[in-house]
Parts: sequence; structure tokens; C-alpha cells
Amino acid sequence: MPNETLTITDNRTGKTYTVPVYKDSIRALDLRQIKVAADDFGLLSYDPAFMNTAACQSAVTFLDGDRGILRYRGYPIEQLAERCTFLEVAYLLLNGELPDADQLEEWTSEITHHTMIHENLKKLMEGFHYDAHPMGILMSTVAALSTFYPEARNIHDPEIRKRQIARLIGKMPTLAAYAYRHSLGLPYVYPDNDLGYTKNFMNMLWKRTEPKFRANPVLARALEVLFILHADHEQNCSTSTMRAVGSSYADPYATTAAAIAALSGPLHGGANEEVLRMLDEIGSKARVPAYIEQIKAGHGKLMGFGHRVYKNYDPRARIIKQVANEVFEVTGRNPKLDIALELERIALEDDFFIRRKLYPNVDFYSGIIYQAMGFTPDVFTVLFGIPRTVGWLAQWQEMLQDSEQKIARPRQLYTGSAERSLRAEELEFEAAVSTAA
Ligand code: ACO
Repeated sequence: MPNETLTITDNRTGKTYTVPVYKDSIRALDLRQIKVAADDFGLLSYDPAFMNTAACQSAVTFLDGDRGILRYRGYPIEQLAERCTFLEVAYLLLNGELPDADQLEEWTSEITHHTMIHENLKKLMEGFHYDAHPMGILMSTVAALSTFYPEARNIHDPEIRKRQIARLIGKMPTLAAYAYRHSLGLPYVYPDNDLGYTKNFMNMLWKRTEPKFRANPVLARALEVLFILHADHEQNCSTSTMRAVGSSYADPYATTAAAIAALSGPLHGGANEEVLRMLDEIGSKARVPAYIEQIKAGHGKLMGFGHRVYKNYDPRARIIKQVANEVFEVTGRNPKLDIALELERIALEDDFFIRRKLYPNVDFYSGIIYQAMGFTPDVFTVLFGIPRTVGWLAQWQEMLQDSEQKIARPRQLYTGSAERSLRAEELEFEAAVSTAA
């Protein structure tokens, strides 16, 4: 028995059990030995919404919500955002180390050569209404990729897995840009292999008739930083979905489509779109106090505020505020920033928000920047999904290689009726139906 143990006394029976403590946790399965009778199922842990349950061990991302710390593979997010490119960070998340010059060249070329999508996928996209939500289009087209690459089902072959990972990271900006242009009725622009990851994405979004699209370097770098900040965030709702769906050995396209579905909700990635709608609804700085009172009275939530894990300032929100200033020097100041700053100022001084440890999260400022750059709010969550694909895939790969993992299958506490029987007239009716059949 290791030194670190926990002793539990079952007051129903008076029996005492000692279970090992590993990394400040106990294994839920160790509770199963705690029984009232020999034929009992054993004690379960009950944890709706996984408030206090670790479902895996992971070496990808470290997050300390109380101290506002976020690290990818040990590197502080602040350093990565300042010094690295998105593709370097993607390599780091997937492989555990930053690439050297040769590895980076090979990795960049691999991603760049997987940016094209099959023409049939374009036809599928054309079937969507002009006002289809870009997240719906992204989710469907990523799922459809599964039909183009049947080899992807062979998830246990490392080479095949690697190829699908490169395909997904390479194609995601193309699918996102096509979804965006579809909503505007603009022709799709093919990827340009001379350009880097974010500049190529901007090219596919905004190229009109010019022979070569030249992205503003400040905006391209801002997008790169935003992508780095959104690349992974350990076991959040969409990543847990990725792991749960992937645990059934579904192929990575179907699995990523499921993660996109989870991300689309307004309590998760969809929050950045909702923040903009909220700022529109508030309309002016003067109306902020009244809006806050409305939230405190229980009418809705302050979108872009609060986090399941961060109970301190989200470090990504701090970096995003700096990026906002750089972007506004190019685009001009988004007037919504003043409303957002006022909202933050008042909320952070208010006892309601202080007591609940509600701080701005990554989504509070990202939408304001995206809007200044020229994106419409319905595309904000898509901009979250592109980089998060890297984190999903890193976690999916880790899950597949973890010998402790099995198909995800939570237990339940049954609260329905005890066994009962059909009434006599129901039994007669069932008999008549089966005779007629
Ligand atoms: N505005 C007002 N009150 C809030 C907010 C908010 N944004 N967030 C939480 N609260 C309140 C809750 O009503 C609750 O109050 P109570 O104790 O009086 O009942 C208390 O704070 C605790 O909140 P929970 O809902 O228990 O916190 P949980 O960890 O379940 O939820 C979540 C976290 C979903 C992020 C929540 O804070 C929220 O809905 N925020 C707004 C949506 C948002 O910005 N989501 C993006 C998250 S970041 C991301 O996914 C990228």
C-alpha cells in the first residue's frame, strides 16, 4: 500500500476501507468494494457535469484555475503567444516538443499540402441555404470528410492517424472560409500554398479580384495569436466529447464533427457570438449599470464571463486585451470595446460577481477583435473551431494510446419507477394487437 492513502468508514456497516491516493485523487472503482451486503453492486461516485471527476491522465495542457495559469506541454501560454507561430504550437501540442527547423519545414509542408478539399465537398456545401449558420456547415462538412477518406477508420495505425491529423488541420481553414463565403454568396477561393497558415486563411476569406492577396501583417499575427490561445484547454466540453466519441473508435472526422457540435453551444464556444449580441443589446456605456442589475436579478448571464475552471482572471483574456489594442491601431477602435471595458469594470467591483469568482473569459474580447477585423458574429465560433481542432486531435491521440482508457460509459442513479406490471386492460389490448398482427 502506498504512503498516501485515504481511510473511509462506512457508517452503514461500521467497516473501514483504505484506498490509495494518487495525484490527490482516488480511483472511483476503489469505492466499489464498499458494500452493505455481499451481492451489492458497491458504492458509486455521483458527479453530474463532472464537477470533481478526472476522466483521464493527460500530459498535453496544464491549467490552474485558481492561479490563472495555462501551459501547453509545460510552456506558459504567454511565452507561446509572444514567440511562436500557430503551426509550431500545433506541433508542440501533438508531439510534446517544439519542432526544430527541419521538423518545422516538414510539418508546414505537410499541412500546406492538405489544404485542398474535394470538389464534391464544394457541391455538398452549395446545398446549404445562404443563411445557414457557418458552424452547421463546418460540422456537416467535417463529418462528410469521413466518406472521402475511408482509410481513416483504421485509427490504430499511427501513419494513417498522422495523415488524417494533417488533413484535418490543413482543411479546417478551407472549410471555414468556404462556409463564410457561402453565407455571403461569394465564389470560393482556392488555398494558396505560398502563404502561411493564417495568411492563407485570410486569402481564402477576403480575396476578391486582385491577383495576389496580401494580408495585413499585424492582423495576420493577431489571428495567429488568437489561434494559439484557443488551441487547447484540457478537458472542456468539446474535448471531452472528442474523447468520448473517439473512445468508441469512430473515425477522426466523425469524432471531430461531434466536438464541433459541442463547441457550438452558447455556454461553450458559441459564447463569443453571444457576447457581441449582448453588447449590441446594451447599446451604450450609459446602459451598462442597468444591464448588470438585470443579470443580478436573474435575467440571463453575462456572456463571456465565468468559467468552470478559472476562478481568477483567464490568462488568455489578458493577452487578448493586448492584441485588441494592436488590431485597433490598424482597423480603428471598435466602439463596442468601450461598452465591454465598462461592463468588466463594473462587474469586477460588484459583490455579486466577486463572490461567484466571475471574471472575463477568453470569449469576452475575442469577438470584438474579430468584428473589427471584418468577421460577422456568426463566424466567430468557427474561428474558435479551427485552432481547437489541434487540441482535440492531440487529446484524441493521447486517449487512443492510453492503455487505461476504454469506451466512455458513465453510470447513472436510476430515479424512475420500481418494477410494475401492465394493468389487466392494457394486457388485453396488447394481446389483441399481437393476434391481429
Ligand atoms: N453571468 C452571471 N452569473 C453567472 C455567470 C455569468 N456569466 N456564470 C456563472 N454565473 C453564476 C451562476 O448563476 C451561479 O450562481 P448561483 O451560485 O447563484 O447559482 C454561479 O455563478 C456559479 O455558476 P455555475 O453555472 O455553477 O458555473 P459553471 O462552472 O457550471 O458554468 C459557465 C461555467 C458555463 C462558463 C458559466 O460561467 C457561463 O454560463 N458563462 C457564460 C457563458 C460563457 O461565457 N461561456 C464561455 C466559457 S469559456 C469557453 O467555453 C471557451
